[in-house]
Amino acid sequence: MIDIHTHILPHLDDGAKDTHTSIAMLKKLQQQGVQTVVLTPHYYGKRSNPDTFVQRRNAMYERIKEHIPEGLQTRLGAELHFTGINMPENDELCKLAIEGTKYILVEFPFTMAWTGELMSRLSDFIRDTDYTPIIAHAERYPEIKRNPALVFELVRMGCLIQVNAPAFLDKHEKKLAFALLKHGFVHCLGTDAHNMDSRPPELLSAKDAVEKAGYVAAWERAENIMKDVIEGRQVRVECGLPVKKFLGFYR
Ligand SMILES: [Fe+2]
Repeated sequence: MIDIHTHILPHLDDGAKDTHTSIAMLKKLQQQGVQTVVLTPHYYGKRSNPDTFVQRRNAMYERIKEHIPEGLQTRLGAELHFTGINMPENDELCKLAIEGTKYILVEFPFTMAWTGELMSRLSDFIRDTDYTPIIAHAERYPEIKRNPALVFELVRMGCLIQVNAPAFLDKHEKKLAFALLKHGFVHCLGTDAHNMDSRPPELLSAKDAVEKAGYVAAWERAENIMKDVIEGRQVRVECGLPVKKFLGFYR
């Protein structure tokens, strides 16, 4: 298994608060059979620049490097907060992309409306850079909860979609997560783990829940897409039918 979205590196964001926590998180992933974990601390263009970010990130990686459990591979990356403003230039994006690839984990705003202007900045980003955005935790945004058809638009524009695995276990989030899975909009899976208690690295129990619900093939498809992503291969996904919301249900 691959975990493509984590906040395991210590002292960088609201993720692991110390090295001890980072190591415990890595061990927990390895015990669940995870082979590759992508380390994706938050990147905010208004607070940092790519060089400072990379310096801090690499320093924290050095602290945990020797303690990475045997058999677990790590890749460096970032979760780029996308507003379309203060965005790194194309030649700097390699510092934030998933190490050695042209894929970049992108977080859309939670509190700001997804205006036409924002979507057009995303479209410019896709057109003007060499990088494919992977939209982080699609199931969590109020804009998508309200209008799930937006996921169809994002995929049509050229984005890949990541869903947090724990969402399949969460009573508030699983309806949308399963609807996205059913419609073929789950291309990547991550734990988005921040710690060992409230947001732990939990992947296996989510996989079990998905299997029990009869979506083994959809989970495996995401696994295969993620393999291509971390190996830097080009991914082409079919655009499924938009998810619709009707009387509080997603279908
Ligand atoms: Fe995250």
